[in-house]
Amino acid sequence: MTKYLTRGVGALLSMTALSAPALADEVEVMHWWTSGGEAAAIAVLQEDLQARGTGWVDMAIAGGGGDAAMTALRARVVAGNPPTAAQMLGMTVRDWADEGFLGNLNAVAEAEGWNDVVPPAVQAFGTHDGEWVAAPVNIHRPHWVWANAGIFEELGLSMPTTWDEFFAAADAIEAAGHVGVAMGGQAWQEATIWEAIVLSVSPALYEAAIINADMDALGSEGIVESFEIFRRVLGYADPGYAGRDWNLATAMVINGEAGMQIMGDWAKGEVINAGLTPGEQVLCAVVPGTDGAFLFNTDFFAMFDVGEDAQAAQRNMASAAMSVSFQETFNLAKGSIPARTDVPSANFDVCGQTSMADLVEATEAGTLFGSLAHGHGQPASVQAAYLDVVTQFANSDMTPEAAAEALVASVGGAL
Ligand code: BGC
Repeated sequence: MTKYLTRGVGALLSMTALSAPALADEVEVMHWWTSGGEAAAIAVLQEDLQARGTGWVDMAIAGGGGDAAMTALRARVVAGNPPTAAQMLGMTVRDWADEGFLGNLNAVAEAEGWNDVVPPAVQAFGTHDGEWVAAPVNIHRPHWVWANAGIFEELGLSMPTTWDEFFAAADAIEAAGHVGVAMGGQAWQEATIWEAIVLSVSPALYEAAIINADMDALGSEGIVESFEIFRRVLGYADPGYAGRDWNLATAMVINGEAGMQIMGDWAKGEVINAGLTPGEQVLCAVVPGTDGAFLFNTDFFAMFDVGEDAQAAQRNMASAAMSVSFQETFNLAKGSIPARTDVPSANFDVCGQTSMADLVEATEAGTLFGSLAHGHGQPASVQAAYLDVVTQFANSDMTPEAAAEALVASVGGAL
Protein backbone atom coordinates (compact mmCIF):
# COMPACT_ATOMS: atom_id res chain seq x y z
CA MET A 1 0.00 0.00 0.00
CA THR A 2 1.39 3.38 -0.88
CA LYS A 3 1.54 6.02 1.79
CA TYR A 4 0.17 8.87 -0.25
CA LEU A 5 -2.04 9.78 -3.13
CA THR A 6 -0.80 8.33 -6.37
CA ARG A 7 -0.98 10.39 -9.52
CA GLY A 8 -3.44 8.05 -11.25
CA VAL A 9 -5.94 8.19 -8.44
CA GLY A 10 -5.46 11.94 -8.15
CA ALA A 11 -6.34 12.53 -11.79
CA LEU A 12 -9.54 10.59 -11.29
CA LEU A 13 -10.38 12.45 -8.12
CA SER A 14 -9.94 15.86 -9.63
CA MET A 15 -13.21 15.28 -11.47
CA THR A 16 -15.09 14.79 -8.20
CA ALA A 17 -17.13 17.72 -6.85
CA LEU A 18 -16.07 18.92 -3.42
CA SER A 19 -18.28 20.22 -0.65
CA ALA A 20 -17.47 21.99 2.60
CA PRO A 21 -18.11 19.81 5.66
CA ALA A 22 -17.47 22.32 8.41
CA LEU A 23 -19.35 25.46 9.41
CA ALA A 24 -17.94 28.84 8.40
CA ASP A 25 -16.50 29.55 11.84
CA GLU A 26 -14.88 26.20 12.40
CA VAL A 27 -12.28 23.96 10.86
CA GLU A 28 -12.41 20.21 10.60
CA VAL A 29 -8.83 19.01 10.95
CA MET A 30 -7.62 15.57 9.94
CA HIS A 31 -4.36 14.50 11.60
CA TRP A 32 -2.56 11.53 13.15
CA TRP A 33 -1.36 13.05 16.38
CA THR A 34 -2.83 10.63 18.90
CA SER A 35 0.07 9.63 21.18
CA GLY A 36 0.29 11.42 24.55
CA GLY A 37 2.96 13.89 23.41
CA GLU A 38 1.32 14.47 20.02
CA ALA A 39 -2.11 15.09 21.54
CA ALA A 40 -0.63 17.58 24.02
CA ALA A 41 0.99 19.44 21.12
CA ILE A 42 -2.10 19.68 18.94
CA ALA A 43 -4.14 20.90 21.91
CA VAL A 44 -2.02 24.07 21.71
CA LEU A 45 -3.35 24.76 18.21
CA GLN A 46 -6.94 24.03 19.21
CA GLU A 47 -6.68 26.50 22.08
CA ASP A 48 -5.06 29.18 19.91
CA LEU A 49 -7.80 28.86 17.35
CA GLN A 50 -10.56 28.92 19.90
CA ALA A 51 -9.10 32.16 21.28
CA ARG A 52 -9.34 33.55 17.73
CA GLY A 53 -13.02 32.55 17.50
CA THR A 54 -12.54 29.53 15.24
CA GLY A 55 -13.94 26.21 16.42
CA TRP A 56 -12.21 22.85 15.94
CA VAL A 57 -13.76 19.61 14.74
CA ASP A 58 -11.22 16.92 15.48
CA MET A 59 -10.66 14.13 12.96
CA ALA A 60 -7.79 12.18 14.53
CA ILE A 61 -6.77 8.95 12.78
CA ALA A 62 -4.36 6.92 14.91
CA GLY A 63 -1.24 5.45 13.31
CA GLY A 64 2.34 6.67 13.53
CA GLY A 65 3.83 8.12 10.36
CA GLY A 66 0.33 8.91 9.03
CA ASP A 67 -0.35 5.92 6.74
CA ALA A 68 -3.85 5.36 8.12
CA ALA A 69 -4.64 9.08 8.11
CA MET A 70 -3.62 9.41 4.46
CA THR A 71 -5.84 6.45 3.52
CA ALA A 72 -8.75 8.05 5.37
CA LEU A 73 -8.04 11.37 3.68
CA ARG A 74 -8.21 9.80 0.22
CA ALA A 75 -11.50 8.15 1.11
CA ARG A 76 -12.96 11.49 2.23
CA VAL A 77 -11.85 13.21 -0.97
CA VAL A 78 -13.20 10.38 -3.14
CA ALA A 79 -16.53 10.81 -1.35
CA GLY A 80 -16.45 14.52 -2.29
CA ASN A 81 -16.21 15.50 1.35
CA PRO A 82 -12.65 16.55 2.23
CA PRO A 83 -11.85 18.00 5.65
CA THR A 84 -11.15 21.73 5.81
CA ALA A 85 -7.55 21.10 6.75
CA ALA A 86 -5.24 18.09 6.93
CA GLN A 87 -1.84 17.31 8.38
CA MET A 88 0.54 16.26 5.59
CA LEU A 89 4.18 15.53 5.01
CA GLY A 90 6.07 17.30 2.20
CA MET A 91 5.63 15.02 -0.81
CA THR A 92 1.94 14.63 -0.03
CA VAL A 93 1.49 18.39 -0.12
CA ARG A 94 3.03 18.34 -3.61
CA ASP A 95 0.77 15.53 -4.78
CA TRP A 96 -2.47 17.14 -3.61
CA ALA A 97 -1.37 20.54 -4.93
CA ASP A 98 -0.47 19.01 -8.32
CA GLU A 99 -3.97 17.61 -8.49
CA GLY A 100 -5.45 21.04 -7.78
CA PHE A 101 -7.15 20.20 -4.48
CA LEU A 102 -5.48 22.72 -2.21
CA GLY A 103 -6.51 26.28 -1.42
CA ASN A 104 -4.12 29.18 -1.91
CA LEU A 105 -2.59 30.64 1.28
CA ASN A 106 -0.61 33.38 -0.42
CA ALA A 107 -2.64 36.27 1.02
CA VAL A 108 -1.80 35.20 4.60
CA ALA A 109 1.74 34.19 3.68
CA GLU A 110 2.49 37.53 2.08
CA ALA A 111 0.84 39.59 4.82
CA GLU A 112 2.83 37.70 7.45
CA GLY A 113 6.13 37.42 5.58
CA TRP A 114 6.45 33.63 5.53
CA ASN A 115 9.04 33.82 2.74
CA ASP A 116 11.40 35.73 5.01
CA VAL A 117 11.32 33.32 7.94
CA VAL A 118 10.77 29.79 6.61
CA PRO A 119 13.96 27.97 5.51
CA PRO A 120 14.08 27.43 1.72
CA ALA A 121 14.18 23.62 2.10
CA VAL A 122 10.82 23.77 3.90
CA GLN A 123 9.38 26.39 1.53
CA ALA A 124 10.10 24.02 -1.35
CA PHE A 125 7.42 21.65 -0.01
CA GLY A 126 4.90 24.25 1.22
CA THR A 127 4.70 26.12 -2.06
CA HIS A 128 3.43 25.08 -5.47
CA ASP A 129 4.24 27.12 -8.57
CA GLY A 130 5.47 29.86 -6.24
CA GLU A 131 2.21 30.02 -4.23
CA TRP A 132 1.90 28.90 -0.60
CA VAL A 133 -0.49 25.94 -0.29
CA ALA A 134 0.33 24.61 3.20
CA ALA A 135 1.48 26.04 6.53
CA PRO A 136 4.60 24.38 8.01
CA VAL A 137 4.41 23.95 11.79
CA ASN A 138 7.70 22.28 12.63
CA ILE A 139 10.98 20.72 11.59
CA HIS A 140 11.45 17.19 12.88
CA ARG A 141 14.78 15.36 12.81
CA PRO A 142 14.26 11.60 12.51
CA HIS A 143 17.82 10.38 13.29
CA TRP A 144 18.14 10.44 17.07
CA VAL A 145 19.17 7.94 19.73
CA TRP A 146 17.14 8.25 22.97
CA ALA A 147 18.58 6.60 26.06
CA ASN A 148 17.56 5.92 29.64
CA ALA A 149 19.91 8.08 31.74
CA GLY A 150 19.56 5.89 34.84
CA ILE A 151 20.72 2.78 32.96
CA PHE A 152 23.55 4.69 31.30
CA GLU A 153 24.73 6.04 34.64
CA GLU A 154 24.51 2.69 36.38
CA LEU A 155 26.55 1.02 33.62
CA GLY A 156 29.01 3.91 33.22
CA LEU A 157 28.01 4.47 29.57
CA SER A 158 28.08 7.66 27.56
CA MET A 159 26.05 8.43 24.47
CA PRO A 160 27.59 6.57 21.51
CA THR A 161 29.25 8.59 18.77
CA THR A 162 30.31 5.58 16.64
CA TRP A 163 28.56 2.32 15.78
CA ASP A 164 31.22 0.42 17.75
CA GLU A 165 30.28 2.43 20.83
CA PHE A 166 26.59 1.93 20.10
CA PHE A 167 26.95 -1.87 19.93
CA ALA A 168 29.18 -1.94 23.02
CA ALA A 169 26.52 0.04 24.92
CA ALA A 170 23.74 -2.26 23.64
CA ASP A 171 25.74 -5.33 24.76
CA ALA A 172 26.23 -3.86 28.24
CA ILE A 173 22.54 -2.94 28.50
CA GLU A 174 21.48 -6.46 27.49
CA ALA A 175 23.97 -8.02 29.91
CA ALA A 176 22.36 -5.96 32.68
CA GLY A 177 18.99 -7.52 31.84
CA HIS A 178 17.33 -4.78 29.79
CA VAL A 179 16.29 -4.72 26.13
CA GLY A 180 19.22 -3.23 24.19
CA VAL A 181 17.24 -1.29 21.59
CA ALA A 182 13.48 -0.68 21.90
CA MET A 183 11.98 -1.12 18.45
CA GLY A 184 8.61 -0.83 16.85
CA GLY A 185 7.76 -3.16 14.00
CA GLN A 186 6.18 -1.10 11.24
CA ALA A 187 7.72 -0.39 7.85
CA TRP A 188 8.07 3.35 8.50
CA GLN A 189 9.82 2.72 11.81
CA GLU A 190 12.26 0.26 10.23
CA ALA A 191 12.91 2.76 7.44
CA THR A 192 13.51 5.53 9.99
CA ILE A 193 16.41 3.48 11.37
CA TRP A 194 17.76 2.31 8.00
CA GLU A 195 17.82 5.78 6.42
CA ALA A 196 19.73 7.10 9.46
CA ILE A 197 22.29 4.36 8.95
CA VAL A 198 22.65 5.25 5.27
CA LEU A 199 23.29 8.85 6.33
CA SER A 200 25.89 7.61 8.82
CA VAL A 201 27.72 5.69 6.09
CA SER A 202 27.97 9.06 4.35
CA PRO A 203 25.77 12.05 3.53
CA ALA A 204 26.93 11.70 -0.09
CA LEU A 205 25.56 8.14 -0.15
CA TYR A 206 22.21 9.34 1.26
CA GLU A 207 22.01 12.01 -1.40
CA ALA A 208 22.91 9.68 -4.26
CA ALA A 209 21.03 6.53 -3.21
CA ILE A 210 17.93 8.12 -1.73
CA ILE A 211 17.41 11.69 -2.94
CA ASN A 212 18.71 11.00 -6.47
CA ALA A 213 17.72 7.30 -6.56
CA ASP A 214 20.97 6.63 -8.39
CA MET A 215 21.17 2.98 -9.39
CA ASP A 216 24.95 2.68 -8.96
CA ALA A 217 24.71 4.13 -5.47
CA LEU A 218 21.79 1.85 -4.61
CA GLY A 219 23.75 -1.25 -5.53
CA SER A 220 26.97 -0.01 -3.92
CA GLU A 221 29.13 -1.35 -1.10
CA GLY A 222 27.90 1.55 1.05
CA ILE A 223 24.32 0.29 0.84
CA VAL A 224 25.48 -3.25 1.63
CA GLU A 225 27.26 -1.80 4.67
CA SER A 226 24.07 0.04 5.72
CA PHE A 227 22.16 -3.26 5.74
CA GLU A 228 24.98 -4.95 7.69
CA ILE A 229 24.73 -2.31 10.41
CA PHE A 230 20.92 -2.47 10.30
CA ARG A 231 21.05 -6.27 10.79
CA ARG A 232 23.18 -5.79 13.91
CA VAL A 233 20.83 -3.12 15.30
CA LEU A 234 17.82 -5.41 14.73
CA GLY A 235 19.58 -8.05 16.83
CA TYR A 236 19.07 -5.93 19.96
CA ALA A 237 15.26 -5.77 19.69
CA ASP A 238 13.11 -7.93 21.96
CA PRO A 239 11.06 -10.72 20.38
CA GLY A 240 7.82 -8.77 20.94
CA TYR A 241 8.74 -5.91 18.65
CA ALA A 242 6.58 -6.89 15.64
CA GLY A 243 3.74 -4.44 15.17
CA ARG A 244 4.66 -2.35 18.22
CA ASP A 245 3.80 1.37 18.03
CA TRP A 246 6.69 3.80 18.24
CA ASN A 247 5.43 5.50 21.40
CA LEU A 248 5.28 2.17 23.23
CA ALA A 249 8.92 1.64 22.31
CA THR A 250 9.67 5.13 23.67
CA ALA A 251 7.83 4.19 26.86
CA MET A 252 10.18 1.20 27.24
CA VAL A 253 13.12 3.62 27.32
CA ILE A 254 11.33 5.99 29.68
CA ASN A 255 10.47 3.24 32.18
CA GLY A 256 13.84 1.50 32.00
CA GLU A 257 12.68 -1.68 30.28
CA ALA A 258 15.00 -0.80 27.38
CA GLY A 259 18.23 1.18 27.18
CA MET A 260 17.93 2.94 23.81
CA GLN A 261 15.61 3.73 20.90
CA ILE A 262 16.44 5.12 17.47
CA MET A 263 13.54 7.39 16.57
CA GLY A 264 12.65 10.89 15.43
CA ASP A 265 12.32 13.70 17.93
CA TRP A 266 8.56 13.18 18.26
CA ALA A 267 9.82 10.63 20.83
CA LYS A 268 10.91 13.64 22.86
CA GLY A 269 7.27 14.73 23.00
CA GLU A 270 6.56 11.51 24.91
CA VAL A 271 9.41 12.24 27.32
CA ILE A 272 8.07 15.74 27.99
CA ASN A 273 4.51 14.46 28.30
CA ALA A 274 5.75 12.01 30.95
CA GLY A 275 6.94 15.02 32.97
CA LEU A 276 10.63 14.30 32.34
CA THR A 277 13.38 16.58 31.05
CA PRO A 278 15.09 15.57 27.80
CA GLY A 279 18.84 15.60 28.31
CA GLU A 280 18.35 14.67 31.99
CA GLN A 281 16.29 11.51 32.59
CA VAL A 282 16.24 10.62 28.89
CA LEU A 283 19.41 11.44 26.96
CA CYS A 284 19.60 12.39 23.30
CA ALA A 285 22.33 12.23 20.67
CA VAL A 286 22.12 12.05 16.91
CA VAL A 287 22.58 8.57 15.42
CA PRO A 288 26.31 7.69 15.40
CA GLY A 289 28.10 9.16 12.41
CA THR A 290 25.33 11.61 11.46
CA ASP A 291 26.70 14.62 13.28
CA GLY A 292 27.04 17.51 10.81
CA ALA A 293 24.20 16.20 8.63
CA PHE A 294 20.48 16.73 9.03
CA LEU A 295 17.51 14.75 7.75
CA PHE A 296 14.24 16.59 8.17
CA ASN A 297 10.52 16.18 7.88
CA THR A 298 7.99 18.93 8.32
CA ASP A 299 4.35 18.61 9.29
CA PHE A 300 2.22 20.91 7.19
CA PHE A 301 -1.41 21.89 7.47
CA ALA A 302 -2.85 22.07 3.98
CA MET A 303 -6.25 23.64 3.42
CA PHE A 304 -8.58 21.92 0.97
CA ASP A 305 -10.31 24.10 -1.56
CA VAL A 306 -13.80 23.60 -0.14
CA GLY A 307 -15.38 26.90 -1.09
CA GLU A 308 -15.48 30.50 0.03
CA ASP A 309 -17.45 29.93 3.22
CA ALA A 310 -14.58 28.03 4.73
CA GLN A 311 -11.85 30.47 3.77
CA ALA A 312 -11.95 32.84 6.74
CA ALA A 313 -11.55 29.95 9.17
CA GLN A 314 -8.83 28.42 7.01
CA ARG A 315 -6.91 31.71 6.92
CA ASN A 316 -7.31 31.97 10.68
CA MET A 317 -5.87 28.51 11.12
CA ALA A 318 -2.93 29.15 8.79
CA SER A 319 -2.18 32.40 10.57
CA ALA A 320 -2.42 30.80 14.03
CA ALA A 321 -0.17 27.92 12.99
CA MET A 322 2.49 30.30 11.73
CA SER A 323 2.58 32.74 14.66
CA VAL A 324 5.87 32.97 16.55
CA SER A 325 4.22 32.26 19.90
CA PHE A 326 2.38 29.20 18.59
CA GLN A 327 5.50 27.82 16.93
CA GLU A 328 7.38 28.12 20.20
CA THR A 329 4.72 26.61 22.48
CA PHE A 330 3.75 23.89 20.02
CA ASN A 331 7.29 22.76 19.24
CA LEU A 332 8.27 22.75 22.92
CA ALA A 333 5.56 20.11 23.37
CA LYS A 334 6.00 18.28 20.05
CA GLY A 335 9.75 17.63 20.31
CA SER A 336 10.51 19.31 17.00
CA ILE A 337 11.97 22.75 16.31
CA PRO A 338 10.05 25.67 14.76
CA ALA A 339 9.60 25.98 11.01
CA ARG A 340 10.42 29.68 11.42
CA THR A 341 13.97 30.83 11.98
CA ASP A 342 12.98 33.79 14.18
CA VAL A 343 11.71 31.85 17.22
CA PRO A 344 14.07 32.25 20.20
CA SER A 345 15.97 29.09 21.15
CA ALA A 346 16.31 29.97 24.86
CA ASN A 347 13.37 27.87 26.09
CA PHE A 348 14.31 24.75 24.12
CA ASP A 349 16.12 21.87 25.82
CA VAL A 350 19.58 20.71 24.87
CA CYS A 351 18.31 18.36 22.13
CA GLY A 352 16.21 21.14 20.54
CA GLN A 353 19.04 23.66 20.70
CA THR A 354 21.36 21.09 19.08
CA SER A 355 18.85 20.66 16.25
CA MET A 356 18.50 24.41 15.74
CA ALA A 357 22.27 24.88 15.49
CA ASP A 358 22.78 21.76 13.34
CA LEU A 359 20.08 22.86 10.89
CA VAL A 360 22.02 26.03 10.14
CA GLU A 361 25.31 24.14 9.90
CA ALA A 362 23.93 21.38 7.63
CA THR A 363 22.22 23.91 5.37
CA GLU A 364 25.56 25.66 4.85
CA ALA A 365 27.46 22.40 4.39
CA GLY A 366 24.95 21.01 1.85
CA THR A 367 24.12 18.06 4.12
CA LEU A 368 20.46 18.86 4.77
CA PHE A 369 18.19 16.29 3.12
CA GLY A 370 14.53 15.30 3.24
CA SER A 371 13.66 12.11 5.15
CA LEU A 372 12.62 9.19 2.93
CA ALA A 373 10.72 7.43 5.72
CA HIS A 374 8.78 10.62 6.47
CA GLY A 375 7.63 11.75 3.07
CA HIS A 376 10.38 14.19 2.10
CA GLY A 377 12.76 12.00 0.09
CA GLN A 378 10.82 10.52 -2.80
CA PRO A 379 7.24 10.60 -4.09
CA ALA A 380 4.88 8.00 -2.63
CA SER A 381 5.24 5.27 -5.22
CA VAL A 382 9.05 5.37 -5.17
CA GLN A 383 9.14 5.67 -1.38
CA ALA A 384 7.04 2.51 -1.18
CA ALA A 385 9.59 0.68 -3.37
CA TYR A 386 12.33 1.45 -0.82
CA LEU A 387 10.21 0.65 2.22
CA ASP A 388 9.10 -2.71 0.79
CA VAL A 389 12.71 -3.88 0.64
CA VAL A 390 13.71 -2.43 4.00
CA THR A 391 10.82 -4.10 5.81
CA GLN A 392 11.35 -7.38 3.94
CA PHE A 393 14.98 -7.30 5.05
CA ALA A 394 14.01 -6.55 8.66
CA ASN A 395 11.53 -9.40 8.76
CA SER A 396 13.50 -12.16 7.06
CA ASP A 397 17.05 -13.48 6.93
CA MET A 398 17.79 -11.70 3.65
CA THR A 399 21.50 -10.92 3.28
CA PRO A 400 22.76 -7.34 2.97
CA GLU A 401 23.99 -8.11 -0.57
CA ALA A 402 20.58 -9.44 -1.59
CA ALA A 403 18.90 -6.39 -0.04
CA ALA A 404 21.05 -4.02 -2.11
CA GLU A 405 20.18 -5.98 -5.26
CA ALA A 406 16.51 -5.99 -4.34
CA LEU A 407 16.61 -2.22 -3.83
CA VAL A 408 18.01 -1.69 -7.31
CA ALA A 409 15.24 -3.83 -8.79
CA SER A 410 12.45 -2.40 -6.66
CA VAL A 411 13.35 1.28 -6.96
CA GLY A 412 14.36 0.87 -10.61
CA GLY A 413 10.92 -0.57 -11.33
CA ALA A 414 9.12 2.28 -9.55
CA LEU A 415 10.91 5.19 -11.23
C1 BGC B 1 5.34 13.10 11.80
C2 BGC B 1 5.33 13.43 13.28
C3 BGC B 1 4.69 12.30 14.04
C4 BGC B 1 5.38 10.99 13.72
C5 BGC B 1 4.81 9.79 14.45
C6 BGC B 1 5.96 11.74 11.57
O1 BGC B 1 5.87 11.38 10.21
O2 BGC B 1 6.05 14.08 11.09
O3 BGC B 1 4.66 14.63 13.52
O4 BGC B 1 4.73 12.58 15.42
O5 BGC B 1 5.29 10.75 12.33
O6 BGC B 1 3.46 9.68 14.21
